[in-house]
Amino acid sequence: MSDSDHPRVLISEEQIRDRIKELARQISLDYADKGELTLVGVLKGAFMFLADLSRELTVPRLIDFIALSSYGRGGAESGAVRLLMDVRESLEGRHVLIVEDIVDTGRTLRYLTGLLEARAPASIRTCALVRKQARQEVEVSIEYLGFDIPDVWVVGYGLDYAEQHRTLPYIGVVEPDGLR
Ligand code: PRP
Repeated sequence: MSDSDHPRVLISEEQIRDRIKELARQISLDYADKGELTLVGVLKGAFMFLADLSRELTVPRLIDFIALSSYGRGGAESGAVRLLMDVRESLEGRHVLIVEDIVDTGRTLRYLTGLLEARAPASIRTCALVRKQARQEVEVSIEYLGFDIPDVWVVGYGLDYAEQHRTLPYIGVVEPDGLR
C-alpha cells in the first residue's frame, strides 16, 4: 500500500467541514466568557483537525501540542502509552480542551487526562473527531465528538497507516493485511 492508492471514502471532506463547524459553534458557546481556552492537540494524528477546528472557534484560544505513542494501534497490543513530547505552556488554572483525531481503545485519552489533571487546570474536556466504540476498553468521556465509526482501519485527515495517507483531505478505509 502506498499514497498512490486511493482509500475508499468513509467520511467526506464536506462532512468533516460541516461537522467541525457544528463542533466549533458548540465549543464557542460553552466557553464564552470563560477566558482563554488552551487547545492541546495530540500529535501526530490531530494536527489537521486542530488546525481546522481552531480556525472556526470564536473564543480566545492558545494552541499547544503533546506527543504520545500508543502501542495499541497496529503494533504490539500492550496498551502502554508513552509521553514523547510535553506541552510547552503551564496548564494551571486554565480551561483545557484535548483535541484528538481518534479514540480507539481509549487508553491514550485516559493516560493523557490523568497526566493533565495532575497540573491543576480549571477544567479538562475532550474533543475527538472519530471514535470506534466497538474497540473501547476503558471508560473515557468525550464531550465533543465528530463521528462514531465502525471497527475498520481509517486513514487520512491526520490518520495514518504506517505513516501513509496522513494528508488525505477525507477519512478513508484501508484493509491492511495481518492486522488484528
Ligand atoms: C492514535 C491516535 C490516538 C490513539 C488512540 O495515535 O492519534 O492518540 O492512537 O488510540 P487508543 O484509544 O487505542 O489509545 P498513534 O499512536 O497512532 O500515533 P500518531 O497519532 O502519531 O499516528
